[in-house]
Parts: sequence; C-alpha cells; structure tokens
Amino acid sequence: MVTERTMIEALAKQVGEEVKACGWVTVRRDHGKLIFLDLRDASGTVQAVVLPSQPDAYAIANTLRPEWVVEVFGVVNKRPEKMINKDVLNGDIELAVSLIKVLNPAETPPFDLTSDGREIGEESRLKYRYLDLRRPRLARNLRLRHQIIKFIRDYLAEQSFIEVETPILTKATPEGARDYLVPARLYPGQFYALPQSPQQYKQLLMVAGVEKYFQIARCFRDEDTRGDRQPEFTQLDLEMAFVGQEAVMNLNEQLLIELVHTLAPEKKILQTPFPRLTYAEAMSKYKTDRPDLRENKEDGNELAFAWVIDFPFFEKIEGGKYTFTHNPFSAPKSEHHDWLMKGERIDEILTNQYDITLNGLEIGGGSIRNHQPEALKAVFKILGHSDTDIEANFSHMLRALASGAPPHGGIAWGLDRLISILAGEPNIREVIAFPKTGEGRDLMMNAPAEISPEQLKELKLKIVS
Ligand code: AMO
Repeated sequence: MVTERTMIEALAKQVGEEVKACGWVTVRRDHGKLIFLDLRDASGTVQAVVLPSQPDAYAIANTLRPEWVVEVFGVVNKRPEKMINKDVLNGDIELAVSLIKVLNPAETPPFDLTSDGREIGEESRLKYRYLDLRRPRLARNLRLRHQIIKFIRDYLAEQSFIEVETPILTKATPEGARDYLVPARLYPGQFYALPQSPQQYKQLLMVAGVEKYFQIARCFRDEDTRGDRQPEFTQLDLEMAFVGQEAVMNLNEQLLIELVHTLAPEKKILQTPFPRLTYAEAMSKYKTDRPDLRENKEDGNELAFAWVIDFPFFEKIEGGKYTFTHNPFSAPKSEHHDWLMKGERIDEILTNQYDITLNGLEIGGGSIRNHQPEALKAVFKILGHSDTDIEANFSHMLRALASGAPPHGGIAWGLDRLISILAGEPNIREVIAFPKTGEGRDLMMNAPAEISPEQLKELKLKIVS
C-alpha cells in the first residue's frame, strides 16, 4: 500500500497509479449506488468516487459528512470525455476509492463553507474564523498576502535592504493615535506602549549605520475601527540613508509596479510614472488629499496610483496650538527651514512628506526626516512641548541625531489596504487571518477580557468604574 501522501493539485500527474490523499470532505453526493465525495486539501479539490464493489470503503463513505477529515486510498483515473470539466482543477480526473480512514469527524459547521461567505453575518464568520478561512475566497486571500509579502522581501533583499525586527514592548511614539498600554509588573505604575509604528527605531537604525532597512511590521493604534482600519495592522516599513525624496519615491513606485505585474497581472495600472499632485492641488481640485483618479470606478481591475506631496507640516488646533499633520520627525522643505527654526509663518511651512494613494485610499506615507537635533527641537517647541518634556520623551532621538546621523528618509505602506485592493476585497478584514470586529473585539478568542484578581494584584492595578 502507498504510504506517501500526494497533494490534491498533483494527483493529475499520477493517472493510473495508486495514491493516498488526505483532506476534508467538502460534500458527499449519493447518485444511485455511487457515492461521490469532493475532497479538499490546502492545494485544491478532487472528486472521489466510491463503488459498492469496495464494501469497506463504501460503508464508511455512507457515514461521511461535510468537514470530516479523512485519509483516502485509491487509483487516479481519467474521466470519460463527456464528464470532463475543463474549467476546474482536476476536472479531467477522479479518484476511484478503495479504502477510507476517518481521521476525525466534525460537528455540523455553523454556516455554509462552500459559498463566498458574503451572505453570512460577519460576527458569526469571525467567531468561527478557523472555519471561515476554509472557504476558497479566504484561502486565496491568505495565499495572495503571503505571495505579496514574499515578493517585497525578495525584491528589497535583492537591493541590499535588510529586515530588522524592532520591539513591540516600547515607549509611546507620536503617530497621532492613542496608544495601547501594557502594565510593567516589575515597575508598578509604569507602562510599556505598543508601537504605533517603528518610526523612531528605524531612524535609530539609520544612525546605527544600517542604511537600508525594512520590516513587515505590526503596528498598534487605539482608534475607531473602520473598513480600512484595524487596531493592529501591518506595514511595509522602510528607511534609507543618504537619499532624497526622489530616490525613496522611485524605489517604491518600481516595487509597486513590479509587484502588480507579477502577482496581479489582471490589474491595469492607469498611469506610469504615477501622477504627482501637491497637497494644495489635490485639495483645490478634488477636495481631498487622497483623490480617486480611476477613469471607470465600476471596473475592478483599474489601479490609479498617485503621489501627493508638499503637505503642510503643522495644523492649528484648539486654543491656537499646533499639531503635526503627519510625522513630527519629518524635515521641512529646505526653503522653509528658517521659518521652522525661528517659529515663524508656521501655517505656511511645508514638509517633505509624500503619501501614496490608490483608488482613493491612502496606502502609504513617508518623508525625508529631520536629521539635525536643533531642527527637531524646533518642531517640538512649535508643538508646545516644554524643555523638560522634550528631555523626558525625546532625548534619545536628539542625542542620536547629534551623534553622526546621516540624512535619511523612508515610507510605510498600509499593507492590509494594498492587499485588499489587489485581492478585489472591499474590506481589510477579508485579507487578515484573524481580524478584530468593527468594535475592536476578537470574537473567537473573546478578547479583550477581564483578568483575574491575582493578576491585577500582581500588577498593582485597581479597576475603578
Ligand atoms: P502612517 O501613520 O501614515 O505613517 O501609516 C502608514 C500607512 O499605514 C496605513 N494605516 C493603517 N492601516 C490599517 N489600519 C490602521 N489603523 C492604519 N493606520 C495607518 C495607511 C497609512 O498610509 N511612521 C510613518 C511612516 C513614515 O513616515 O515612514 C507612519 O506610520 O495605509
């Protein structure tokens, strides 16, 4: 008897041979005396047929139900001409079963796994995500995600970038959202913050001499969740030393174009080089800084990338105070450097910030950074930080910039957003294996959840309601 398992997608290469296949029963169909099974593994589906002339296998086949896990032995046969289905994998073969072993029965699934799932309530899909991920649409999305990330890693490694992991338990870094905090057991009353992005670490890696850094980085932001926002999400984070805006934009543009050509060849990029708009142009022409430049919004295969550049550095908020529009670590445009240093004409200071938009979504953003400590200090002054505050929160950055920091700049892509567009999905939750709900809950693990009185005591925390 065969001992080695054949993956279902490879069965067609073994016509006439005895094989062993493993997987899940998608459906069982009884046709008179014949029993047909659709058998599925990670690589595909095959039709198996069980005849009464194989009484042991036949008896077991009669008991099989959807999602049972089985091991099946049989011979791969060519289908008769009139039974061939050219449109599907293995449409020209079938597996004539001689033996079935049930590896594990399954409870009846709470919902249909054979449809694309769009008709099923999302709460239910997320609660049973391990089942939901079995549907071909979701399995395909996970594969595409893997391929995109692998393509990015290979492409950047080829250009001498190295991937460096940066801490998850860290200190608050300003990206404009609220932090997720983790109490430090060894330091009662003190907290780690989960990173909103690896921004400071990647700049410190430039100071460290890495020169070309990237990371497929998990980021955490406590903000209201929407279709294109999750509390934790993934960036392609990238930083380069000794470059200006053009070099960073060109590298990213080439990477995006090659990625689309290779992994989403059915998509059509509307315009290359990608059109560039200043923030002022975008706002006056489209009333948004992420314009949708598609010619035909009904055509799911059209990709309209655009760069938006020359953003205002600061924005006035309540009480005449200022906040940053994107990133406090960005450099001003060189012609506005003096205004920054003197704290003059603050509303007019533009930054070397560049955002990349795709079909009306912001899929990335970056900038050339401030690599001079005095200029960074001037930014924090405009933002209203006192000297003590700057010392307490940013002294490490200022010291680092004063210790031989090369000029540098970078970008981060919202990978979930890019992948969802390339997968033709309207929502980033469809391309994340285990996303949170719109209300930020993990319904499968039931998180967030209360912790025990012992844990609270250990952390020296009290819940006041
Ligand atoms: P920024 O804050 O613009 O820049 O983030 C980069 C990109 O990340 C995506 N994004 C999100 N995706 C899903 N859910 C979210 N909650 C979410 N928030 C942001 C967006 C966005 O364009 N450190 C800088 C980058 C840099 O300057 O290099 C940063 O994080 O697509």
